[in-house]
Amino acid sequence: MKGILLAGGRGTRLLPTTLAVSKQLLPVNDKPLIYFPLSVLMLAEIRDILVVTTPEDVPQIRRLLGDGSRLGLRITYTEQPEPNGIAEALVLGADHIGDDPVALILGDNVFHGYSFQEILRQECRDIDGCVLFGYPVRDPERYGIAETDARGRLLSVEEKPAAPRSNRAVVGFYLYDNDVVDIAKNLSPSARGELEITDVNRAYLERGKAKLVDLGRGFAWLDAGTPEALLQAGQYVQLLEQRQGVRIACLEEIALRMGYIDAETCHRLGVELEKSAYGQYVISVAEQFAAR
Ligand code: DAU
Repeated sequence: MKGILLAGGRGTRLLPTTLAVSKQLLPVNDKPLIYFPLSVLMLAEIRDILVVTTPEDVPQIRRLLGDGSRLGLRITYTEQPEPNGIAEALVLGADHIGDDPVALILGDNVFHGYSFQEILRQECRDIDGCVLFGYPVRDPERYGIAETDARGRLLSVEEKPAAPRSNRAVVGFYLYDNDVVDIAKNLSPSARGELEITDVNRAYLERGKAKLVDLGRGFAWLDAGTPEALLQAGQYVQLLEQRQGVRIACLEEIALRMGYIDAETCHRLGVELEKSAYGQYVISVAEQFAAR
C-alpha cells in the first residue's frame, strides 16, 4: 500500500505565523506537526510515501525528512502549486500510487488512541472500496460529516453542511483501493473551486463501497489548523508525555519498533539530537531495545 501525506495549503487561519513557515512544520509540544500524520502511516506499515506540498515548502520539509532512508522509509515529494483541494493530491500522486491501494492523510491531523495500530492493521488489509474514519465533534458544520443508519452503515457524506445530519466528522485519513485514481481524475471542482475529498468518498458510497469505522470517544483526534487547536494539541501531547514518560509520534522509536531500523541506527539518530529531551529519549529507547 502506498501513502500520500498532504502538507500544502497556506495555513491562512494561522497567519501571520504561517507567512514564512509551513503549518505542518510548526511545533506540537516537542516535535513538528507533520511527525504525527507520518507516524500514522508508519504504524500502518506504509513505507513508500509521497509528500504533496507547496513549491515553497518542499525544500523545508525535505530538509526535515529527507528521502526517508534514515527511518527505513522512501519519501518523495510533489508540488501542489495552488491549494486546489485535498482530492488533487490523488491526481498529483497517480504515478506514485501506480496499481496499488493508497492511504491519504492530512498533514495537520493528530491521532492518538488505544489500539490504533491494531485498527490500522485490520483496516489496511484487502481494501475493496474506501474506508473512512468517523469521530464525534461538537461543531459538525466545520467538517466532512457522515450519516449512518442504526446498524452503522453509511448513508451520506457531506462537506461542511449548514444543517448537519449527524455530529460524526470524517477525519483526515482515508484508505482507498486503486479505483480512486480514476475517480479523482474525473472529479469536477466544487462551488468553492476545489477537488473535494468528500466527492471522492461520495462516489464510493454510490457504488456501495464505502465503509465507516468509528474511532469513538476514547480516542483523540485533533486538527491543528488554528492557534487554539495547535496549542491544545501541544497541551494534550505534553500532558500525556509528561505523565507517562513515553513520547507520541517519535519517528525514530516507531521505526525501531516496526523493524524499519536497528537499535544502533536509532541510537545514532538520537545522538544527533542529544541536546534536546527528544534526542535523549531516542537514545534511551535504543539502549533499552538493545538490552532486551
Ligand atoms: O480535518 C478533517 C477535515 O479536513 C475533513 O473532515 C473535511 O472533510 C476535509 O475537507 C478537510 O476539511 P478542512 O477544512 O480541515 O480542510 P483544509 O482546507 O483546512 O485542509 C486540510 C489540510 O490539507 C491542511 O493541512 C492543508 C492541506 N491542503 C488542503 C487543501 C484544500 C492542501 O495541502 N492542499 C489543498 O489543496
